[in-house]
Amino acid sequence: MSGQVKEERDWPSYYAKTGFRPPRATLLRALDAFEAEAPADRPRFAVDLGCGNGRDVVEMLRRGWRVLAIDAEQSAIDGLLARPDLPPDPRLETLVSRFEDADWPAADLVNSSFALPFCPPDRFPELWRRIIASLRPGGRFSGQLFGDRDSWVGRQGITFLSRTQLDAILDRLTIEHLEEEEDDGTTPRGTPKHWHIWHIVVRKPN
Ligand SMILES: C[S@@+](CC[C@H](N)C(=O)[O-])C[C@H]1O[C@@H](n2cnc3c(N)ncnc32)[C@H](O)[C@@H]1O
Repeated sequence: MSGQVKEERDWPSYYAKTGFRPPRATLLRALDAFEAEAPADRPRFAVDLGCGNGRDVVEMLRRGWRVLAIDAEQSAIDGLLARPDLPPDPRLETLVSRFEDADWPAADLVNSSFALPFCPPDRFPELWRRIIASLRPGGRFSGQLFGDRDSWVGRQGITFLSRTQLDAILDRLTIEHLEEEEDDGTTPRGTPKHWHIWHIVVRKPN
């Protein structure tokens, strides 16, 4: 594919196809779980890693959260800030950065929908350690990781986790939702793909 952007890196076309879809089910589960607990005495704070055009960010703001939205692509943040359904909002901060190089404050929720797999495997353990360390007691992670039977296995710079590896990283967290999706489908841009995805919502103990 020399001279062409590989599909999994062509984020602008991804945003065009999916940016205005509803929020992810994993995010909704995490937000609902917080809402089922005692009300917080301050606005809750979330970090969205690989926010894209902000389909999840908009929902968090709608539910009263403060949000730090991080994405490596300037066009993701530009698209987020230009959304017609998102008026200027002082509760939203943005950062253009690769998440493995970014710092963020302690958070109630770290959300990363379909983005964390794009951390290179050699940097993933440290990134995951920092995600969990950044969660306040009772905080949650919601998002997706790719499984080891995904048809993209072997592509450079993408992390895939077997069930055993997943169990190891989720150790000491309370698993509130863990769904394994494995099916033949197409990418949002219409290319056939065997998907193997872990959909995850976990809580850090108090
Ligand atoms: C598949 S899109 C998902 C976007 C959005 N979270 C959603 O659910 O629609 C992946 C996003 O992660 C971003 N991304 C990929 N690798 C990244 C990295 N290492 N650091 C920060 N963002 C990254 C891409 O720019 C893209 O916006």
